[in-house]
Amino acid sequence: MNYLNHHIYPITNGWLNDPNGLCYFKGNFHIFYQEDKNSPYGKHKSWGHVITKDFIHYTYLGTPIKPDSIYDKDGAYSGCAYVLDDTLHIFYTGNVKHQGDYDYILEGREHNLVHMISKDGINFVEKKCIFKNEDYPSDLTKHVRDPQITLQNGKYVMVLGARDRQNLGCILKYQSHDLLHWEYVERYYPNQHQPYMLECPNMIDDTHIICSPQGLCKDEEVQNIYEVGMYTIQDGVLTNYQKLDYGFDFYAPQVFNNTSTPYMISWMGMPDAKYTNPTILQGWQHCLTLPRTYKVKKNHLYQSVISQIQSQMTRTNVPSKNMCLKATAEGNFDLTIGNIQITYQNQTLVLNLEKCGSGRHTRSINLDVKNMEIYVDTSCIEIFLNDGYAVLSSRYYDENFEIQTNLNYTLYNLPKMTLRNEE
Ligand code: FRU
Repeated sequence: MNYLNHHIYPITNGWLNDPNGLCYFKGNFHIFYQEDKNSPYGKHKSWGHVITKDFIHYTYLGTPIKPDSIYDKDGAYSGCAYVLDDTLHIFYTGNVKHQGDYDYILEGREHNLVHMISKDGINFVEKKCIFKNEDYPSDLTKHVRDPQITLQNGKYVMVLGARDRQNLGCILKYQSHDLLHWEYVERYYPNQHQPYMLECPNMIDDTHIICSPQGLCKDEEVQNIYEVGMYTIQDGVLTNYQKLDYGFDFYAPQVFNNTSTPYMISWMGMPDAKYTNPTILQGWQHCLTLPRTYKVKKNHLYQSVISQIQSQMTRTNVPSKNMCLKATAEGNFDLTIGNIQITYQNQTLVLNLEKCGSGRHTRSINLDVKNMEIYVDTSCIEIFLNDGYAVLSSRYYDENFEIQTNLNYTLYNLPKMTLRNEE
């Protein structure tokens, strides 16, 4: 029932989480992701690898980075790609867990920063550990991970997500002249919500950073166990938090290195959530979101599905599980797609998956909704509101896709995506 029409999923079966190493290199877009082929529950993390030229035809190439060294034996965790001249540099966190009675937060864990290079984007060599535990500031826990590198004012800047010994989440900033030698510069803490950890930071320009905070103190906007948001860096502090998704399944997004248009892809999942994915009965779990482009306007991040997909959509009158529904809203409305219910009343939009969410109930957003674009796949729904001002991304499980609504809408077929296994 649940293989996907237009999303990247673990084609070999098994588990997928964070996108990693997103970049454009030697004629292909490269999409790596956290992979465990042996279990739909994700235990031992490697990097799976998919390439594409057009974001419609994808090829899975196998598992180029495996946890096969003393630096990463318990997981080749998340990281980034940086393209320099004719070389693709990869940086990721090598996870090592020592046997014993440890909490694995303060003790018992290594969080090594590992560097590899590739000349063809396919084969990776020279696994080197460039930071060990003792190289990080001593007031941090052993939770420092997920490097991302950008070029700022002629210097390479690396950000890492971290949890300090006071249980406060922060972003570490390092800089380098050659990608090999790094010096610690400073760190940034959020000025609100007090998360205990910030995972997967991504600088998207000199002042805006996307990351995945854990342990935000609850307010009406915080609906998931963990969140994804964008901060503005102002006077050394992370301010102006913007929640980046209001659905159930969106975590650890990453932006591409070395593309002329800004692209991003996210994991369409949520770690440690109580709701489930019946695809595990078929031996696999999770997928990536549709590739998106983004822009920051007045300190706010807007997302939309990339033009390569939008420009190949064709009008149809027949609903399917490979469709996009576009509508303009003028006041309250109800929309059901099979058992997915979307209601909009008094400036609150509610996504109700009680009948088809495998434990997912409702998520909501307060917004004056003017327009919607909804992308529907076999078990994925991505709802873009007001030209991408806000998004809700979720998995759902339902065979039915009949549309009922009091809205005027137009329907499109999405181009048929292919995902070939050439491992
Ligand atoms: C985010 C995350 C990262 C880590 C990776 C391990 O989902 O926890 O912080 O590097 O997943 O798979």
